[in-house]
Amino acid sequence: MCGIFAYTGRKNAVPKVLEGLEKLEYRGYDSAGLALIDRKNRLKVIKTVGYVSQLSEEVFNRSRTLSGSIAIGHTRWATHGKVSKINAHPQVDCSKRVAVVHNGVIENFEELKKNLKNKGHRFISQTDTEVISHLIEEFLNEGYSFKTAFQKALGSLVGAWAVAVLSPLTPETLWLGRFSSPLAIGLTKEEIYVSSDSQAFPYNVKKVVFLEDGQLARLSLQNRKRVEIFNLKGKPVNYQLINKGLMEKVNLAKGEFPHFMLKEIFEQPLTVERGLRGRVDYSNKKVVLGGLRSVEEKLKEKEFIGLMACGTSLNAALVGRLFGVGALGLSVWSENSSDYSQLNLDKKILDRSAVFYISQSGETADTLSSLKLVQKETQALNLGIVNVVGSSLARRVEAGIYTRAGVEVGVAATKSFTNQLLALLLGLIYIGQLQGKQLVNQDKFFRELQLLPAIISKVLQEKEKIKATAGKLVEVKNFMFLGRHLAYPLALEGALKLKEISYRFSYGDSLGSLKHGPLAVISPENVVVAVIFSQEPELKKSISNIHEIVARQGRVVVISDLPMGEFPPAIEHFLPLSHLESLWLMPLVTSPVLQLLAYYLAVFLGREIDKPRYLAKSVTVI
Ligand code: M6R
Repeated sequence: MCGIFAYTGRKNAVPKVLEGLEKLEYRGYDSAGLALIDRKNRLKVIKTVGYVSQLSEEVFNRSRTLSGSIAIGHTRWATHGKVSKINAHPQVDCSKRVAVVHNGVIENFEELKKNLKNKGHRFISQTDTEVISHLIEEFLNEGYSFKTAFQKALGSLVGAWAVAVLSPLTPETLWLGRFSSPLAIGLTKEEIYVSSDSQAFPYNVKKVVFLEDGQLARLSLQNRKRVEIFNLKGKPVNYQLINKGLMEKVNLAKGEFPHFMLKEIFEQPLTVERGLRGRVDYSNKKVVLGGLRSVEEKLKEKEFIGLMACGTSLNAALVGRLFGVGALGLSVWSENSSDYSQLNLDKKILDRSAVFYISQSGETADTLSSLKLVQKETQALNLGIVNVVGSSLARRVEAGIYTRAGVEVGVAATKSFTNQLLALLLGLIYIGQLQGKQLVNQDKFFRELQLLPAIISKVLQEKEKIKATAGKLVEVKNFMFLGRHLAYPLALEGALKLKEISYRFSYGDSLGSLKHGPLAVISPENVVVAVIFSQEPELKKSISNIHEIVARQGRVVVISDLPMGEFPPAIEHFLPLSHLESLWLMPLVTSPVLQLLAYYLAVFLGREIDKPRYLAKSVTVI
């Protein structure tokens, strides 16, 4: 994880970098730091524990006059070494000639550190990053030019890295390198920006270059070329300038909402409307997806559809799998990309599969590495369902569907999940159309699909009831979310949302599994949140399960589109769901309820809603 931001230009680089870091804070927020070359050509480093705002305060209080035209900055999510000022980035070498910020993990850092220590280098942090500054220093000491020392140092690293380096030896140059962790360069007429995420560039950045794996860059406004990209052997490589106009503008204001998460939950009627716009021909009951047109012929031939993702995106995939199989008769498999390796790669199936990699950020290391593996080993057709336009995943797949949820700032995925569900439904119907498979009960489905934004608006009007329920659960320490069939992935998602932002223990399971173990932990201390859809298969069994829980003094919250009277009177809370005729759309009206329940519980507990402890928005480190 971690965020890198750098700047060179006529303006003071310090506020520019601080501004950029604020926007990247979703990537990590335990400590922050920056390095600059000041007007007297000296390397200055400032670091603090805590948020970027604390770094800004430190800069303001201690070094108001700090000014220079070139700087690198970092917001950290600790991997190696505890959260401390010493472990914050930038990390410098012994002679303070090399400052490094890094995102990723250096797998061979212990071995490198040992060798460097034997050569007399003094390490002060516990980070893996510090080896990079000492390695560059070591190659400089051996007499290499800065460029060669930089190349050689990065060439010695095993693992994932995006780095930005600054040195008073090359005071007008930013040095960059990338392997497996994202890094983008943003250009204006007079400035160069660098960021882990191109969304953090200011509006006047019109052109963007994305570094690819194994690419290094030398950036300088004094150099006629401004941007030079080369490989680890120093050979120049061509690059593509992407027009930022094609990328989405970021609205990073919370507006009337106290938290981004709440704002993003309430954006869902709009984002669902956007996810549908121009993609559905309601009169002919057809889905039209421009993003998949180029691969139509290939899609006709693929016998299997694969869905690969992790976290919330995996829960969306589980819904997609049930829909593809149950409503369209497609053969759909899903895999957790966090747990995917050569050992579960089934080449026979993959060669005959179209695989969707589902990711909000498009930067998730687990999902990117699964894609890499599948690309290397199989003939699969690789597609994306991605929210962030121009992200690494979006650039590496052959075609795909953008989820169009807009920028999501809160670490908890909310609107992006609902729009992933939508993109999956549309994508699978589209493939079904190409393969001559008709959607079961398609009239009902398309009628309600069109009404979905309005239905979600109505769901959100129930917020006071959900808030009141959350208020009564504040003392509860353990939650069990249960659901059957299509409600099962929703139960998983409800549990994930709750634990992520409230820090309460919560886990999701299938209601059908109750007697296979979970029943043993039913007690008045633990609360069951059951999600039940009126049209789910085996509905009677689900209702019996609730009886079984209350008979054992279990406390139950039921979330359902059935009337409350269908459940035993002993249930403690009931949250009604809008009833839809099409079962397959129920997940989209259920997710906002689960999100609000988690949100209000976390608010009552006084949690840090948008930046929950230990987490970051995109997981760029495995
Ligand atoms: O960006 P991605 O969708 O690939 O992220 C995957 C997970 O890290 C993410 O969904 C995570 O589980 C969420 N923060 C949960 O709210």
